[in-house]
Amino acid sequence: MSKLPKQVKIIDVSPRDGLQNEKQVIDLTTKLGLIERLGQSGVSNIEVTGFVSPKWVPQLADSSQLCEQLVHHKNINYSALVPNLKGMELAIAGGIKEVAVFTAASESFTKKNINCTINESLERFKPVMLLARENDIKVRGYVSCVLGCPYEGEIHPFKVAEVTEKLFKLGCYEVSLGDTIGTGTPLKAQKVLTQCMEITNIDTLALHFHNTYGQALANIYACLELGARIIDASVAGLGGCPYAKGASGNVATEDVVYMLDGMGIKTGIDLKKLIQTGKWISQKINKSNNSQAGKAKV
Ligand code: HMG
Ligand code: MG
Repeated sequence: MSKLPKQVKIIDVSPRDGLQNEKQVIDLTTKLGLIERLGQSGVSNIEVTGFVSPKWVPQLADSSQLCEQLVHHKNINYSALVPNLKGMELAIAGGIKEVAVFTAASESFTKKNINCTINESLERFKPVMLLARENDIKVRGYVSCVLGCPYEGEIHPFKVAEVTEKLFKLGCYEVSLGDTIGTGTPLKAQKVLTQCMEITNIDTLALHFHNTYGQALANIYACLELGARIIDASVAGLGGCPYAKGASGNVATEDVVYMLDGMGIKTGIDLKKLIQTGKWISQKINKSNNSQAGKAKV
């Protein structure tokens, strides 16, 4: 029997997952403008940046400045990605109240993405969790490559559930299941979610689907039928991971909200304003790309 939810929590990850994958570094004013517009569109959970190494992801090198200038609005949860203790210290200094640690169900991807093994990544999270508790910061977890890895191919749902369980044991309150390269299809998505539901409640599992083969909405619908009610998405479908070859954008937040509106499932998001936000950031990115292309010709 279908367990469609009445309400869904949406986390827009475009300022982080979207902009980390743009060729050009997007300027700080545009990043802040995007976050502000998402908030005005009714998005109440926004992943604003990542405190990762600027050598690895130069697109997010301005994370501390962004936090200094970020205007916090009531009822909006501003979170940031953190890979290690250094990132956590910077996030705390930036006044961030929720962070997301990230690992994967694939050893090869973990090595390429954060330069360690899965177990080493979990060890790195221990002091992060300690600091989080001391500073009253919520910690979300990500597991990447849950429906396929760019280096290892198929990933077994058992492996996904095993890593997910370890993140919960460390103290994450929610774990987001990432189809990093968008190779998942609906029945496989259901299979991996069902496996994770063996170890935790559905209310603690988020869907983070990339749309490489146009499957993200179908995968989300399949998981909604199992009762999923937390969805990561990115306005204008921006996104991808620089360390996952072939990874294209996240599912577009506009598409998710359109589908949920049509199904009578509440998100609290104003679709018209969200579409304007998507057009606005797309124009900004195009302008930035064109001006760089112009400079290259000179
Ligand atoms: P490393 O090179 O092994 O680390 O990188 P290190 O400890 O040897 O440090 C190297 C340098 O980075 C040092 O600086 C550190 O201080 C500095 P140096 O002495 O050479 O001048 N450093 C830092 N600087 C700022 N912030 C930090 C930080 N840590 C070290 N936090 C590391 C290891 C984890 C740092 C690196 O691999 C890294 O930053 N990786 C991040 C890669 C990334 O951001 N990938 C994209 C996000 S994941 C994703 O998109 C998937 C997701 O969306 C879900 C899905 O779709 O599946 C979440
Ligand atoms: Mg992603």
